[in-house]
Amino acid sequence: MTIRINFNGEICEDAHISVFDHGFLFGDSVYEVISTYKGHLCFAQEHLDRLRNSARSISLEIPLSDDQFFTEIDKTIKAAGNAESYIRIIVTRGVGEIDIDPETCIRPNVLIIVKPIAKYSEENYINGINVALVSVKRNPKEALNPGIKTGNYLNNVLAKMEARKSGAADALMLNPSGQLTECTTSNFFFIRDQRLMTPSLNCGILSGITRDVVLRLARENGILVEEGEWPAEVLQNADESFITGTVKMVMPVTSLDGRPIGNGKPGPITKMLMRLYKDVLATL
Ligand SMILES: Cc1ncc(COP(=O)(O)O)c(C=O)c1O
Repeated sequence: MTIRINFNGEICEDAHISVFDHGFLFGDSVYEVISTYKGHLCFAQEHLDRLRNSARSISLEIPLSDDQFFTEIDKTIKAAGNAESYIRIIVTRGVGEIDIDPETCIRPNVLIIVKPIAKYSEENYINGINVALVSVKRNPKEALNPGIKTGNYLNNVLAKMEARKSGAADALMLNPSGQLTECTTSNFFFIRDQRLMTPSLNCGILSGITRDVVLRLARENGILVEEGEWPAEVLQNADESFITGTVKMVMPVTSLDGRPIGNGKPGPITKMLMRLYKDVLATL
């Protein structure tokens, strides 16, 4: 397993960030995760666009152009030399005074971590996972908007810990108004009466790149799609469910708090979207 880190353009085997970096001190940073599939970068432009949007939302200037990013990513992937790569780009506010005000941070730090992709167990895709509806709420979008992908994930860390305590693989969070939002690092979908339903961006979620592709695939294949605002009770009548994310792709959810969703097996629409999503990755 080879890990390479690109730290402001320099490739190293291990990198050390200053304790005075505001990314470390305050979670004042933005990040993206890109994966490869059969050696190709997946949706890299979309991820760079989202990185820029996140940075803009916290008034952080990214010192690299897209072309420079592509060069640096490529350089780091080559240095690591893995068959399939997990690529994490982090841009921090940089080093400054121990003061919440970012004014003293002169230069952002740009890190690109490349390591072999840690694939999820095949069992998860065959049987689906159990997700827990947790008491930890997703940040309201009026606070730290979940649409901005920052290095401040403590809320999700707490949700994940709560889910793990109950033996669930992941946590499904509500927003403070009691509406369904998303899981700790993935978007949430369910199917009811042949209709694909997913919380709208308005509920306070990350606009997932995989979510976008899945919604497009569903529409192109004649599945009715609804983005909306629902309480957790709506899941009592769900026939199927799945979550999406860059690394996990489309992963079936077959039980909620240990109670089966539908017949407790990955359903036909979920399986179709799993297959269609992989087909898209294969054509990149
Ligand atoms: C909170 C959250 N929601 C959803 C996602 C899925 O986004 P994507 O499909 O772009 O990987 C992620 C990915 O990291 C995430 O952190």
